[in-house]
Amino acid sequence: MSKFLNELKLTKQDLMINGEKVETDNYAPLYSPYSGEEITQIAMADKALTLQAVDAAYHARGVMAKMPAYQRAEILEKVVVLLKLRADEAAEIISRESAKPIAFAKGEVARTIETYKFSAEEAKRIHGETIPFDAATGGVGRIGYTVREPIGVIGAITPFNFPMNLVAHKVGPAIAAGNTIVLKPASQTPLSALFIAELFEEAGLPAGVLNVVTGPGGIVGDAIVEDDRVRMVTFTGSPSVGIGIRNKAGLKKTTLELGSNSALIIDKDINIDEIIDRCIMGAFSNQGQVCISLQRVYAHEDVYGEFVAKFTEAAKGLKIGDPLDPDTYISALISKGEAERVLGWIEETKDSDATITAGGKLQGGILEPTIITDADHSLKLSCQEAFAPIVVVNKVRSVEEAIEQVNDSRFGLQAGIYTNNVKNALYASRELHVGGVMINDVPTFRVDQMPYGGVKESGTGREGIKYAIEEMTELKLVVWNQN
Ligand code: SIN
Repeated sequence: MSKFLNELKLTKQDLMINGEKVETDNYAPLYSPYSGEEITQIAMADKALTLQAVDAAYHARGVMAKMPAYQRAEILEKVVVLLKLRADEAAEIISRESAKPIAFAKGEVARTIETYKFSAEEAKRIHGETIPFDAATGGVGRIGYTVREPIGVIGAITPFNFPMNLVAHKVGPAIAAGNTIVLKPASQTPLSALFIAELFEEAGLPAGVLNVVTGPGGIVGDAIVEDDRVRMVTFTGSPSVGIGIRNKAGLKKTTLELGSNSALIIDKDINIDEIIDRCIMGAFSNQGQVCISLQRVYAHEDVYGEFVAKFTEAAKGLKIGDPLDPDTYISALISKGEAERVLGWIEETKDSDATITAGGKLQGGILEPTIITDADHSLKLSCQEAFAPIVVVNKVRSVEEAIEQVNDSRFGLQAGIYTNNVKNALYASRELHVGGVMINDVPTFRVDQMPYGGVKESGTGREGIKYAIEEMTELKLVVWNQN
């Protein structure tokens, strides 16, 4: 077992404020979602300690604003090197605290390394543009340009499902752009964030730039969101919490990456054998706890039967069990409460015309990969975000009908379509009301430099390093009068 993990059992996990570990009066046990075993004790910050972290970030903002781009890039590059050296340890941390199967945890670490690498690269190309002032009669004789300035203190609130890479999506661009951060990681997965904070310290990030505050969302999160010194809040999580943040944030900038019930359309001309593996990954990786997890499939009637049969067979073959076993594909959901919620949603389908073709049952905290056909639109599993290894598959007569069904949702993060018909692909890319359309792929595709974000209740703003940096900087105009 790695050093960090070994020490977890012996030490309590303190807050990280102003480059120092800070103790609290109150610690709570952190349990493995898979085995129920206690992993360590986590500091529970109160409002005063959270404000101490905001204070540290506020005082460090001048240091960061003055730090040249090449130095910000160097710190991020060092984190890349350190994380590469400790990649196995990092994957084990993710797997233990979140029950993410280790093969997927390793994938998350590889992506986190790329996210910090993109951040280092983007730090060197933050720039504005020149403005053609003489295009307006009143502008003749003036030249001017825009610059992008750091916004200052950023409050980052991150989820449990990608505890390392979604922290990187907030911390990486924030530092690249010269900001300081108060980070509140998800209560179930604070260890990945604390581990990364250690790497930043080793990489030479000045004290106060990255502060990690663990504790109850209602106390820590609210204190961050309501403090006037925090100029932006970037949040990934549920729509209800996101809407609450928006309501409390006043005039702060907000980037909100919220949920979805992402959908895939399968056109009639598709070779089903070629898409099954992608559909399995899209629906069941990370136990379906992914904002762009494949939750709804609309398959053309010509291929529907074959798709359901082959998809069901593949789902039944997935290995479920211990997240640290390299062959495990599906492990425990993040909590007992979540497992029970989802089971309730499956129960609801039993009073309808829907059929469960795979799974549907809990094995301890693990929900078997579940496929449900002919699910009515009004069922929770169709119209809400499941965040679990569940897919509903419905039959459609045309791509037009499928698009109508996909768009009939509160959410709009990403959608996919498999088709060999160019007209249908173009039509779908135009008509689907989502933040990203994947042609010939599941909606679950993401690499870390691409713009990522949704419409409707899926959120506002975009992540993806370059796009996050745009959100995390203020545009300033400079005009020179030569008259
Ligand atoms: C998310 O759940 O929003 C993140 C998905 C990903 O980064 O792959």
